[in-house]
Amino acid sequence: MENISQPPVPPADAAAVHPGIEPISYLLGTWKGQGEGGFPTINSFSYGEELRFTHHSYRPVIAYTQKTWKLNSGEPMHAESGFWRPKPDGFIEVVIAQSTGLAEVLVKEITRVFRLIGGDLSYEVEMATNSTSLQPHLRASLKKL
Ligand code: HEM
Repeated sequence: MENISQPPVPPADAAAVHPGIEPISYLLGTWKGQGEGGFPTINSFSYGEELRFTHHSYRPVIAYTQKTWKLNSGEPMHAESGFWRPKPDGFIEVVIAQSTGLAEVLVKEITRVFRLIGGDLSYEVEMATNSTSLQPHLRASLKKL
């Protein structure tokens, strides 16, 4: 009978980074922090957040997972995961699937701005929906663990 099992992946050098992801390799690791959310149509809220960026040296791609929770109870909120692929022109292609299913497709427009300031990773998310123009939804600041 034909052996259809996948061959074992050779062990990666844990310290090695594919040259293609060198420009954003500072993201690799686990970041934890908290943020604030709101929108003209909803009540504002606070949340805890963990981001993980992982990589192996075989492919120029970083895998990304995010989870958030209510600060007072720990109850899970939004979660998402995806892949970040730096391109030679300096742009980064990011694909993200959200726990809310089609949310990213239903939202008309989303902008995400990430900043690394003094070792802290912060971001701002703005979005436009069919009823609301481009407005802030989230801002958060995270530290590397
Ligand atoms: C880029 C990522 C996100 C997108 C595109 C997104 C999109 C949306 C949209 C379209 C709405 C409905 C707004 C309206 O009714 O006018 C919404 C509501 C909401 N979002 Fe987000 N969201 C994102 C991330 C998050 C995260 C990370 C959290 C929590 C940590 C969160 C928490 C909420 C809450 C609490 C509401 C109010 C409605 C509800 O209670 O379900 N969102 N979001």
